[in-house]
Parts: sequence; C-alpha cells; structure tokens
Amino acid sequence: MNMSTKWLGLDLKNPFVPSASPLSRSLDAAKALEDAGASAIVMYSLFEEAIVAEEEGLTRFLHHQETGHAEADGFLPSHADFPGELDRYLEQVASLKATLQIPVIASLNGVTASGWMTHAKEIADAGADALELNAYYVAGDIWEEGHYVEQRYVTLLKELREHVSIPINMKLSAAFSSVGNMVKKLEGAGAAGVTLFNRFYQPDIDVEGMRLKFALPPTVSSDALLAMRWTAMLHGRVDCSLSATGGIHSGEDAIKLLLAGSDVVHLCHALLQHGSQHLERVIGEVRDWMERQGFEQIDDFRGRMSQVSLLDPSEYERLNYIRVIDTHSGRDGVWR
Ligand SMILES: Cc1cc2nc3c(=O)[nH]c(=O)nc-3n(C[C@H](O)[C@H](O)[C@H](O)COP(=O)(O)O)c2cc1C
Repeated sequence: MNMSTKWLGLDLKNPFVPSASPLSRSLDAAKALEDAGASAIVMYSLFEEAIVAEEEGLTRFLHHQETGHAEADGFLPSHADFPGELDRYLEQVASLKATLQIPVIASLNGVTASGWMTHAKEIADAGADALELNAYYVAGDIWEEGHYVEQRYVTLLKELREHVSIPINMKLSAAFSSVGNMVKKLEGAGAAGVTLFNRFYQPDIDVEGMRLKFALPPTVSSDALLAMRWTAMLHGRVDCSLSATGGIHSGEDAIKLLLAGSDVVHLCHALLQHGSQHLERVIGEVRDWMERQGFEQIDDFRGRMSQVSLLDPSEYERLNYIRVIDTHSGRDGVWR
C-alpha cells in the first residue's frame, strides 16, 4: 500500500507529521517518532520575544565590555560562552537533521516583521527543510481594522521570504472573517502551505483567587471538525498545501481530514499523552481502513468529501447549520 504524499513540495512517505511540541526538544523522542512512522517533524517554536531579549542582552553585554578597562576585559567571559535560545535552536536543527532521515521543519513564532526575522536564514543554513511561521496574534487593539490584521500576516510572510528560499508554511488561526480569502492572499504572497488551525489558548479565571489562571486542556477529536470543514472548503480551490492540526487523535480523525482534502495531518496531544507508539497505531488504523475500502493510495480518496466533490456543496455552509438545528429533539419532561 502506498501512503506517500506531497507537502510543501516535499515528498513524504505518509501524511503523518507530528506538529510543534516539546517532543522535538529531545533527539530520542524525535527518533522514536520517526521509528513509529512519522514522515516529517515540525520543531517546537523559536519565539520572537526570546530572540529580541537575547539581542538586547547581548547589546548590554558588549557595551559593558567596551566601557570597562582593557586589561580587566580580558578576564571577562566572552558572550560566546553563553549560548542563548537562538544558538540552542540552531544546534537542535542541526542535531535533528543529523539524527533523522525525515525532513525537519523549523518553527518561528512571532508577530512583528522586524530584525528578529533575519535569523530565519541561519535556521535554513542549519539544515531545516522548511519553515513554519506561527503568528500567534491576538488582535486586542479595537482600533485595528481587520484588513490591517490580515496585512500583518502577509507582511510577515513576505519579510520571511526575503531571508529564506526554503518552503514556508503558515500556521493560521481560524479567527479571520474570510478564512478562504486569507489563505488565497498568503498563497499569492508565497506560502507553500497553510496549517489549519492554530489553537488560541483562552485564559481562564480562578474565581476563588480572582486572578487569571493558565491551563493547557487536551484537545478532543471534535476539535478537528473546524479544520475539517475549512479543508473541505479549500481543497481544489487553492494550490498551496493544506495540513490540519487540533484534535487529531485517532485513525478515524486522520481519515476525515484526508477525505476533506488535507495533504498531511498533525498530531501533538495524542502523542504527548500516549507516547510515540500511538502514531504507529493511528497509521495502522488508516491502513486497515484503506484496505477495507479497497484504496491503494491516499490520492484514491483524498478530497473525496471536499466541498467541490459533494453533490450539494451548501452542506458545508448554511445548510449544515439548518440541518444541525433540525436534529434537536426535545426530551420528554424537560420543558414544562
Ligand atoms: C505542550 C505543547 C507545546 C506546544 N508548542 C508549540 C510550539 O512551540 N509552536 C507551535 O506552533 N505550536 C505548539 N503547540 C501546538 C501544537 O503543535 C498543536 O497545534 C496543538 O496542540 C493542537 O493539536 P493537538 O490537538 O494534536 O494537540 C504546542 C502544544 C502543546 C500541547
């Protein structure tokens, strides 16, 4: 059975790619994922804030040395003795490349198109096969109009394009008034692919302490339906790669996304919870299903449930809403 797929211009042996997570911080964990069948791996993110803080610290450090006494300066440690986040990240890219056979996708996380982005070139030089950009931008300024928010993403992408020639994947949130048009804009600006959807973590309130609390609740399979719908609506209408993240835990979840039209599916929580061998199970479940259905390759069924393939395309739009509302049947004795 042939499970090969193409994503961001990369030829992959199957569509299962662990998404950004702490698992890529460990060479052993990454190797275990490769052994379990991962066809590529997305690294944990390098944050704009970390790079900027490091650059500011370095400036202070150099300035301090310059203004000291020449003789005494010789005894001071060199800044090279303290590898920062960026250096550690570059080392990890190189180490993962040396350890794994599968493609390694580095991840940048930031919101301003400025100097920090120049380091993307060093990441590409360290061997990354592609770069993911996660612009985790919460549009909290009520005077910032929607089109400026959209333009921010396009500007970030264009700036990044200036620095690297490797493929760029944009990890998007669903918080756009026209998701499809946003994807089209990014494709026009040079995105090789988009990942639907970045999960916006919501702050919670501790009512006893009356302060904010921060939690990382695990996703559930139904979370993947949002990406499934939009993948189905975009498949066949965009040229860039489509991948899905959020709530993909089982073979069934992965099959749904592939039927909708995803080029690859990402897993994170399921792997953190159940370990790398879970990936083997998920791949096995998809393989078994393909066998039962008589499919020999992913392209035999990819996009079969996309909007362009349905007899009634409105089932992915308002008709779905109307049908869902209609499924409700009141339980006897609840309303009096
Ligand atoms: C512990 C943890 C760390 C994560 N780190 C990153 C990260 O560095 N960059 C990123 O883009 N996404 C990160 N994510 C998000 C995941 O890649 C993924 O998109 C999200 O968890 C939804 O997928 P899931 O339902 O398979 O977990 C992280 C998620 C978790 C749980």
